[in-house]
Amino acid sequence: MIEPLILRKDAAQAAALFARTTGGETVYRPLSEEEFYQTFIRSTDTVTKINVCEKEGDTVLGFASGCINAGKAVGYITMIVVDRAHRRDGLGTRLLAALETALHKAAPIQSYEITFFNPVNLTWIVPGTPGHDHPNAPGIDVASDGYLFFKNNGYLDTVYQNSFYQPLAGFAIKPKIQARIDGLREHDLAVGYYDKERHFGMEELFDDLGSELWKTEILGNIAREDGGDPVIIAHHNGKAVGFTGPIHVQESGRGYFAGIGIHSDYRAYGLGSVLFSVLCRSLKEIGASYMTLFTGETNPARYIYQSAGFKIVKTWADMEKKIK
Ligand SMILES: CC(C)(COP(=O)(O)OP(=O)(O)OC[C@H]1O[C@@H](n2cnc3c(N)ncnc32)[C@H](O)[C@@H]1OP(=O)(O)O)[C@@H](O)C(=O)NCCC(=O)NCCS
Repeated sequence: MIEPLILRKDAAQAAALFARTTGGETVYRPLSEEEFYQTFIRSTDTVTKINVCEKEGDTVLGFASGCINAGKAVGYITMIVVDRAHRRDGLGTRLLAALETALHKAAPIQSYEITFFNPVNLTWIVPGTPGHDHPNAPGIDVASDGYLFFKNNGYLDTVYQNSFYQPLAGFAIKPKIQARIDGLREHDLAVGYYDKERHFGMEELFDDLGSELWKTEILGNIAREDGGDPVIIAHHNGKAVGFTGPIHVQESGRGYFAGIGIHSDYRAYGLGSVLFSVLCRSLKEIGASYMTLFTGETNPARYIYQSAGFKIVKTWADMEKKIK
């Protein structure tokens, strides 16, 4: 019988079930019981988590986890796992249906989605690397059984996301990019670290780029009392016309990446590739051992990453089922 997954002892078993899929069947980083509880079960002020499980006696055979983000008419599907010995017997389908019903009951949602907008982020490990991880799985791995499972349960692909990876030990700016950097002077353009004494126009840049997320993060960073982490900009006689950074190394050795953006009036100079390569070099210099990032299948930013030597290491599908 399917029931809510709320008991701590069931959470421990569900965490173990989840851990058994990692490192092969799925690429997620395993979670301790406490991390599992915090990630899948504990709601916050804005995110309501909903879980269901199937038990045989006291043994958890499978679970499904989702959430609702206040103000969004979407039920996010975060995770579903069925014990290997009980697969292909309809249990996954029943768990998913129970989760969908519970999500629908909890809020007036219009669709169920598997997407990077899900506020619950799952860390995953790039296969074949020494634990190099990325803090968010932006959809369902198209190479996993789960992908076909969702397709066969009425979910449609909406967009694809590609994850890019590069170890930084051997990174060097390519001659073609260096030539481009050298040629910027002709246009009174230059690339370097943002300096509030010499540069201006950051707000206007973020208004042009239209991302509140970037604006909040980057302007918040440069307003910090300690000056914040370095931000790399492209500028035209001092006016900021592009950004990337802020640069810092995460505990895992990953070079942090918030984003990259070029003002719409300055997109003809190849500044995106320049900024990105300078970012990689700066991250390497401050001790980052690798970088990961993802972008949409059709986003031209992919050429920037590929021209800097990054490889696609995973493709994810975002999926949706509309509620009729
Ligand atoms: C995905 C998962 C939960 C499916 O559980 P399940 O109980 O086997 O699913 P069901 O029996 O309800 O399958 C329903 C349908 O999905 C499709 N499906 C499920 N697994 C499939 C597979 N390995 N290959 C192809 N189709 C598959 C089939 O159409 C199936 O119907 P059928 O058996 O009549 O052909 C299970 O494989 C699992 O735990 N995988 C590891 C964790 C994971 O990757 N989760 C997804 C991340 S969110």
